[in-house]
Amino acid sequence: MGDDEYKIRIFGSDDLNRVMAINAECLPENYSSFFYRDLYNRFPKTFVVVEADGEIQGYIMCRIERGLSKLRSLRPVRLCHVVSIAVREPYRRRGMATNVLKEAMKNGSEEYRASECFLEVRVGNEPAINLYERLGFTKVKRNFGYYLDGEDAWVMAISLEEKRDSLGESLRDKYLGYDTPPFS
Ligand code: ACO
Ligand code: ZN
Repeated sequence: MGDDEYKIRIFGSDDLNRVMAINAECLPENYSSFFYRDLYNRFPKTFVVVEADGEIQGYIMCRIERGLSKLRSLRPVRLCHVVSIAVREPYRRRGMATNVLKEAMKNGSEEYRASECFLEVRVGNEPAINLYERLGFTKVKRNFGYYLDGEDAWVMAISLEEKRDSLGESLRDKYLGYDTPPFS
């Protein structure tokens, strides 16, 4: 693992093949290159990658949407929808997912004025559910048979308005030590 450090930065066009390969390695939900490019073109600040050992080892990509609040009924809001997040297996449990998600939430709030962040996660995906709960997401709804194989999804959401102050300064381009995650 080299010098025990990693770096959070915004995705760039040259990163596309690497991010697509990590998505294919880590998740059954895969997308066309058009889909990634479209998200990057529209919402670059919430497409965040993490680099270690000279290569990208994880990513998060989001879509900013208008919709009804997941947390307060019938209120139209701007939402930061986490479309996909993954970290390569050898690099897990070092805070990388926590930090790319924190950066995307911060940028979704500050750059795109999203007031909530939400996502769907397989009900059986305990690592991911733990990650989201530790950051303050709550389960707001169960979508039955959401995935192609029939598994249910939890919709999980968090307010970014209450979170704004606690998200701290941007992590972008800072080197983060594995043993001292800044948010633990
Ligand atoms: N078992 C239990 N809890 C876990 C696990 C695990 N295997 N992994 C993470 N957590 C929880 C822990 O509370 C952890 O804190 P700790 O290490 O101090 O105990 C906390 O989450 C934060 O973990 P991170 O180190 O930030 O997470 P990591 O970088 O390992 O990535 C991720 C987590 C993204 C879920 C990774 O396991 C992964 O890529 N899995 C496959 C892809 C996936 O499931 N992605 C999410 C799908 S849902 C969506 O994309 C919207
Ligand atoms: Zn989704």
